[in-house]
Amino acid sequence: MATALCPGSFDPVTHGHLDIIERTSRHFEHVIVAVIRNPQKSQSLFSLEERQEMLREVTAHLHNIEIEFFKGLLVDFAKEHGAEAIVKGLRAVSDFDYELQMAQMNQRLSGIDTFFISTSPQHSFLSSSLVREVARFGGDVSSMVPPLVAKRLAERFAGDA
Ligand code: PNS
Repeated sequence: MATALCPGSFDPVTHGHLDIIERTSRHFEHVIVAVIRNPQKSQSLFSLEERQEMLREVTAHLHNIEIEFFKGLLVDFAKEHGAEAIVKGLRAVSDFDYELQMAQMNQRLSGIDTFFISTSPQHSFLSSSLVREVARFGGDVSSMVPPLVAKRLAERFAGDA
């Protein structure tokens, strides 16, 4: 199979995301990291451009990766880019219900299959929203995100804690 999508908000990218992106890049010829253009822009911590720049830097060692934005339906973006598969990480049973529902909806809408990769256990508790919260109150997130992202979080929340 040629092209896979790894979709998400990536606000910001964590070691959990990176784990899934790296493993996807080993199984597919080409991987598009698809960053959703969030309609509730005010709720995002980082702008799309900042998220893209961080993703570019932390995936620079991978040579079959492209970072793109999308809005609207993921399956429309997948079709426009000739992607045959969507790849998602599953952290825990709590992810499963919603991810299964989305996978089935996307399959019904487009015929595109979703493949699940089990998150590496050391990252199974990680989410961007928790990382944002911990960083906002001055907690140490250096083991949860790449150094560049930890630096950007510290800069963003400097003086807030
Ligand atoms: O990182 P997130 O916020 O968990 O990512 C969720 C995302 C972007 C993968 C999901 O919300 C999505 O695919 N949105 C696009 C809109 C869409 O296609 N909706 C129908 C899905 S069944």
